[in-house]
Amino acid sequence: MRIRGLTVVYKTPAGELPAVRDIDMDLAPGTITGLVGESGSGKSTLALSLLNAVQPPGRISAGQIEIDGIGDVVKLRGDKLRQVRGGQIGYVFQAAQNSLNPLKTIGKQLLDLGRSHDVDNLRALVAEAKELLGRMGLDGARVLDSYQHELSGGMRQRVGIMFALVLNAHLVVLDEPTTALDVITQANILEIVRDIHAERNLTTLVITHDIGVVAEVADRLAVMYGGQLVEQGPVRDVLGEPQHPYTRGLIQAIPRLTGDISEAHALPGRPPNLSTIPTEGCVFRERCPLRMDICETVEPPLVSGSGRLVACHAVADTPAKGTKATTGVSGGLTSSRVRSGIGEERAAGGDDVNPPETPTEEEQS
Ligand SMILES: Nc1ncnc2c1ncn2[C@@H]1O[C@H](COP(=O)(O)OP(=O)(O)OP(=O)(O)O)[C@@H](O)[C@H]1O
Ligand code: SF4
Ligand SMILES: [Mg+2]
Repeated sequence: MRIRGLTVVYKTPAGELPAVRDIDMDLAPGTITGLVGESGSGKSTLALSLLNAVQPPGRISAGQIEIDGIGDVVKLRGDKLRQVRGGQIGYVFQAAQNSLNPLKTIGKQLLDLGRSHDVDNLRALVAEAKELLGRMGLDGARVLDSYQHELSGGMRQRVGIMFALVLNAHLVVLDEPTTALDVITQANILEIVRDIHAERNLTTLVITHDIGVVAEVADRLAVMYGGQLVEQGPVRDVLGEPQHPYTRGLIQAIPRLTGDISEAHALPGRPPNLSTIPTEGCVFRERCPLRMDICETVEPPLVSGSGRLVACHAVADTPAKGTKATTGVSGGLTSSRVRSGIGEERAAGGDDVNPPETPTEEEQS
């Protein structure tokens, strides 16, 4: 998947404001990319746009999302789009545990999903669902016979993951997949996500607040702030040697179980909302300890160095493809952000991520 210049706006009383702005990202086949950022940074909006499922008052106002064999998802409409969702791109919605149809058993919803995607062998689909649920520590037969109110929040979350995988989608987007789970179940689910990802050579995007989750599961890491990607790179490099001040702040804010607890420092200030995101200069400057004069007016370009992409005037870098050099604290700057990528990838599959009678993407978003 190649995302280029993606901008998503929401209509507000102050006009249309961007929740995602001019994002470039590549999801390479076979990789797991973690997407982190504080609440409101635009993670779910970006994820929904990958399925062309941003609902009014939002819309994709610019950009392309190219998937091998499918084309530009932004241009897809109608039945083709319905088939791509779920079939090609599996998706676990944020709060997936609340997105099941309360009036039908999980099994009935599974059959509806299969029929809506023209699955011929529904028996095999049920067997696959049971297998996936079993791997996630659930009694598949019992779960398929259950209504959602008969399942715990964590069980429903695993059912959501099953629905995202059962049609064999090759690109899987998991939006906060383990938030309702205790740490032991979370570790178990992440291991299964990783195993299935490897077995099926999936391309997976995992969205989370939890850097521990990313460290556990991802190959690459993208850090989002105020609707923009501010740092991207191999997960070990980004976590081991964060370059952007925001990434550093996020990592320093993680409480430690051992050593000096006072070493954890909360990031000062609050993240911006749609109406307070700066329209010029650096989006992070209000909270940045390294802020300089140039940061007020010039948006830092995303530049590459050592396999890393970083958008910060204070970071010395070598130019990424198609970009001029940015060096040192006051290096040469370009006005355009680099189109380049993170590793992650693609899709296979079907249609609606959840069965037809479940709430629509609009309701869920
Ligand atoms: N339907 C909507 N109408 C107006 N603004 C919206 C809508 N949905 C999201 N936003 C705004 O877009 C921005 C990004 O929201 P989004 O849900 O994508 O963030 P997020 O990073 O997923 O946050 P969280 O971690 O809390 O899930 C926020 O400022 C949010 O208030
Ligand atoms: S560009 Fe400036 S304000 Fe933004 S993160 Fe870098 S130093 Fe801080
Ligand atoms: Mg979200």
